[in-house]
Amino acid sequence: MTVTGTEERPGTGMRTPQRRSEGRLHPFSLLKRLMPSGLYWRSLIIIVAPMVLLQVVVTYVFLERHWQLVTERLSAKTVAEIAMLLDEFSENPTPFHAARISKRAGDHLGLPTAFLDGETLPDTPSSTGGLLADSLNDEIRERIARPYWINTTRQNRYVDIRIAYNGGVMRVLSPASQVYASNSHIFLVWMVGTSIVLIIVAVIFLRNQIRPIERLASAAESFGMGRDVERFRPQGASEVRRAAQAFVEMRDRIERQIEQRTAMLAGVSHDLRTPLTRFKLQLALLPDGPEIAELRDDIAEMEHMLEDYLEFARGHQGEPSVETDLAELIGEVRDDATRKGHNVKLDLHGDLTLPLRRNAFKRCLTNIIDNAGKYAPHVWVTAIRDAESDEDGSIDILVDDDGEGIPEEQLEEVFRPFYRLDAARNLDTGGTGLGLAIARDIARGHGGDITLARSPMGGLRAIIHLPV
Ligand SMILES: Nc1ncnc2c1ncn2[C@@H]1O[C@H](COP(=O)(O)OP(=O)(O)OP(=O)(O)O)[C@@H](O)[C@H]1O
Ligand SMILES: [Mg+2]
Repeated sequence: MTVTGTEERPGTGMRTPQRRSEGRLHPFSLLKRLMPSGLYWRSLIIIVAPMVLLQVVVTYVFLERHWQLVTERLSAKTVAEIAMLLDEFSENPTPFHAARISKRAGDHLGLPTAFLDGETLPDTPSSTGGLLADSLNDEIRERIARPYWINTTRQNRYVDIRIAYNGGVMRVLSPASQVYASNSHIFLVWMVGTSIVLIIVAVIFLRNQIRPIERLASAAESFGMGRDVERFRPQGASEVRRAAQAFVEMRDRIERQIEQRTAMLAGVSHDLRTPLTRFKLQLALLPDGPEIAELRDDIAEMEHMLEDYLEFARGHQGEPSVETDLAELIGEVRDDATRKGHNVKLDLHGDLTLPLRRNAFKRCLTNIIDNAGKYAPHVWVTAIRDAESDEDGSIDILVDDDGEGIPEEQLEEVFRPFYRLDAARNLDTGGTGLGLAIARDIARGHGGDITLARSPMGGLRAIIHLPV
């Protein structure tokens, strides 16, 4: 249990098993923590992750190698052409011949070429590094074996290649596309574009698949909290529909069972009430006396017990859930308790509205607060909305008193129907021992629970925990 300050936070006790497993170190705990918990995001990752992985592998392994190979071939071809032009020129190095070669190179090879007599290679360093520069360097060294200078930064989409000959420099401005495989990004654009379209389709499709599951989950949740799930229809994939159908059948079975139980007990109680009424009538005809008074008390007690029993058996079914302001409801119960002579103080925090079966829950509160008032001189009722604990938050109602309390080992026992602590304590209080059982039944019917603990005020603390 988590302890904040001197007071124990209510409701936390119920979730201790979960807390404990969170603390344990698990080999996959990091992966688990990183993995989103929702089915929607998990399925999306299952679809998207392989797609991205495939693209990365294709791009790196296939495209990189393809690109490298094509660039090497293209630059080898260009260097071979340059070597041929240079050979041509070396055989007859006259300006006239140079002009003819330049013209042919420009016309047929698409290589603007100039033979610059008297020029020297630039002083700036020649390009190195990178796929294009490396393959050009290799090819020129191998095929031409003369001093050279290249600039592969591709200014104006041209690669500048200069080769020294005796008395001058041959300069070739090769279009980048002739030495370099550059249009592979089109392929990437197509690939990424297609995958984006695929992902969008997957997202839409997944949404539609997961919606019926979400609907089923919230229907089951609402039913567990005692709220109406009238409009629920099985939908979606066959497995989901099967689960939904099973849920609907289960709900109907539970409702039928409760109806049967109620009908039977109502019958029994009715049958018992008739002879009781007869007793009462006969007693009224008899002369007054101490024995008669005792008999009358006994009959009154039996009637009271029958009422309680019937209430317990009837449960809280049949009453619809309505949006209720708990602060107002607690106020009403306090006023009733004050009228019975109990001393009840309230301390309410935050927004306390939630859907409730109003009458049933009022009875639950009354039972707990009346108990405290009956067995102790002072009662404190605290209600807090706890936003962090559950998904949508929860409300805890604490009922503290400064009475004798209940021994630790009996804290669970007292919830059993007809269970009361030792008779000596209860001599003058009267009661059937159904109060707590009914209260817990109602709280559980709302998806919550009631637990008992020792109160900081000295007596008993009842904690009513309600999911919102
Ligand atoms: N606040 C309390 N302080 C001390 N004992 C309590 C308190 N609340 C309940 N108990 C003990 O738990 C027993 C069971 O309580 P429960 O409300 O179920 O029955 P009851 O109050 O005896 O009868 P009734 O059916 O009229 O409520 C009580 O008999 C009492 O001994
Ligand atoms: Mg009681």
